[in-house]
Amino acid sequence: MKKIIYYFSGTGNSLYTTNKIAETIGGAEIIPVRCNAKDVSAKDADVIGFVCPVYEWDVPGIVKEFVKELSINTNAYIFMVTTYIAVLGKSFETIEKLLEEKGAHLDYGRAIRCVASQCIAYPPFPPEKIMIPYMEKQLQRVCKEISQKKFHDYPRMSPLTRRRYNKVMGPYLAIENEYDKGFYTDDRCKGCGICEKVCPTKNITMENMHPKWNHQCHGCNACVVYCPTKAVQFKTPQAYKELNTIICKMLRLPEKRKRYHHPLIKAKDLMSDRKEIKSRE
Ligand SMILES: Cc1cc2nc3c(=O)[nH]c(=O)nc-3n(C[C@H](O)[C@H](O)[C@H](O)COP(=O)(O)O)c2cc1C
Repeated sequence: MKKIIYYFSGTGNSLYTTNKIAETIGGAEIIPVRCNAKDVSAKDADVIGFVCPVYEWDVPGIVKEFVKELSINTNAYIFMVTTYIAVLGKSFETIEKLLEEKGAHLDYGRAIRCVASQCIAYPPFPPEKIMIPYMEKQLQRVCKEISQKKFHDYPRMSPLTRRRYNKVMGPYLAIENEYDKGFYTDDRCKGCGICEKVCPTKNITMENMHPKWNHQCHGCNACVVYCPTKAVQFKTPQAYKELNTIICKMLRLPEKRKRYHHPLIKAKDLMSDRKEIKSRE
């Protein structure tokens, strides 16, 4: 039985989720969506999964493009798991619509609450020591249900979120792909190229031993949080300044932006493009 899970992950929450599901269902191949969909088809797969974070009340653009291009077996068991912090918006509906166009549909959809990782906008929250064990608890259920091929109807966008989507998301969608305009390196950059290799959108090229961001950026923060010398710096995009102030005030977060990534996902995990994960003994 062929099992494939496609994922997108910047700070490791979604890759950790992917690995856990793959381990539980056993023998699953895991493939990042930065691969060319035509090279990694799911035409003969019996189980197909999509795991990604929620970005701007939706799925990251590269995930939509990937699913659009992907050939799938319409009779497969298809699941989707998102990682997020507070608002899921239309993430599941977006993928369901793309699957429907291929004559398939989602059999299972659930979301996992994680540490919010958007350090270019605000400090990580809620605290890791609360969220990591909570994430494990949520994952236990999700892994069990998927391994039993359960059906679970996916969460829909609430009417309030739907009404407010354009107004609230407009400023962020306007800078989609250009989050990297404020990225730069300081003199701690050794030119190791890890930022280039972890980037889930292949947006970074190394020039004269320094990263160059090519404006295909979804603001995932991988280059920032996985830089071994903390040399990657950023200016907060204007669209985020207000959000940053509101969130910091409301949640009494410190000004300082800690560089969060999932503690068990290392840079090398994000660099590999295809991997098969055996079941847990
Ligand atoms: C650019 C960006 C946009 C985000 N937008 C949302 C959102 O709309 N709703 C939400 O609940 N969380 C949002 N988040 C939080 C992420 O969904 C969450 O931290 C996720 O677990 C990150 O996954 P990763 O570690 O696999 O990259 C956003 C994070 C980023 C970086």
